[in-house]
Amino acid sequence: MRVLVTGGAGYIGSVSVELLVEAGHEVTVLDDLSTGHRGAVSARAKLEVGTYGDTAAVTTLLEKNRIEAILHCAAKSIVGESMTDPGKYFRENVGGGVALLEAMRATKVRRIVFSSTAATYGMPERTPIVEADPVRPINAYGETKRIVESAIGWYCRAYGLRSVILRYFNVAGATVEHGEMHVPETHLIPALLEAVAEGRQATIFGDDYPTPDGTCIRDYIHVEDLALAHLKALEATAHNDKRTGPSSGPTEALICNLGNGKGFSNRQVVRAVEAATGRSLGVKIGPRRPGDPPILVASADKANEVLGWKPRLGSLDEMIGSAWAWKQSHPSGYR
Ligand SMILES: NC(=O)c1ccc[n+]([C@@H]2O[C@H](COP(=O)([O-])OP(=O)(O)OC[C@H]3O[C@@H](n4cnc5c(N)ncnc54)[C@H](O)[C@@H]3O)[C@@H](O)[C@H]2O)c1
Repeated sequence: MRVLVTGGAGYIGSVSVELLVEAGHEVTVLDDLSTGHRGAVSARAKLEVGTYGDTAAVTTLLEKNRIEAILHCAAKSIVGESMTDPGKYFRENVGGGVALLEAMRATKVRRIVFSSTAATYGMPERTPIVEADPVRPINAYGETKRIVESAIGWYCRAYGLRSVILRYFNVAGATVEHGEMHVPETHLIPALLEAVAEGRQATIFGDDYPTPDGTCIRDYIHVEDLALAHLKALEATAHNDKRTGPSSGPTEALICNLGNGKGFSNRQVVRAVEAATGRSLGVKIGPRRPGDPPILVASADKANEVLGWKPRLGSLDEMIGSAWAWKQSHPSGYR
């Protein structure tokens, strides 16, 4: 398959590219390197530096590379920033997302897998969360993802796109070659590992939540498991695959959660980081962050039933151990 991966120089995109090329697919990466790294792109993929938000340029790129399917990973994805600068998120994620869909329409590229998020659920009413639960984002980031999901749905109905929307929970871990390097780092596991590496204190936001130890509970998924789910989702968008609709006429997006089905509290994560690194972490308790639900845990039963996907590296030890190993072998990240 000839696949375009937007955001293939980012954390999740780079691991997905690694797996796609290993599986024998021809991969083109489109990335503006705004939060990604040139050095993260597999040498076996072709890198085009640019934005997915320019319909004319993406149309040319899709034609030139005879792209058959798109894995749309690129986005702006810092929750706090989305609350102080929502314009950037609507412009980039929503405006850019529609521009990409228009390039697909112009070139009749019909297959897309979209990186969505648990943030679309907002404050869930029950746990574990299933895909049919209400989608009511409580931050601008989640809202922009919800809108792109909705746009894909309408393009499916009108133009017969074949699509899979994947709502990831918290992604963690690394492969030998690719790991997480965000500046600033807002995700708990890499932030704790950064604190360990630099010998400084880490902060946990809130310890007065209605959970057994008072800290937030999150569902973590290994980035390699996620990449495998991308591969399976891309396969499900094939022309004659009934999971993404009839081979002609209107279709409907297939929506799946990707998580572990297990929750770990922030304090449990801190203990696991201490065990993996053999160092103790001084942890400071900061104020709650606005818009942080106490518990976010996925039901991934649908991904299992429909895509035949199951997390294989679901323990905190595997996720933290691989992330720590990558950090030690890449002390300056991709620089
Ligand atoms: N990391 C997580 O835990 C998590 C959880 C849920 C959903 N997601 C989603 O997964 C996707 C990937 O996340 P990540 O953690 O790898 O983020 P990342 O920031 O590491 O990667 C995003 C990549 O997209 C690129 N990019 C951004 N805007 C672009 C544009 N306009 N044109 C071209 N390239 C652009 C960046 O340079 C970067 O390489 C995002 O869509 C994010 O919303 C991530």
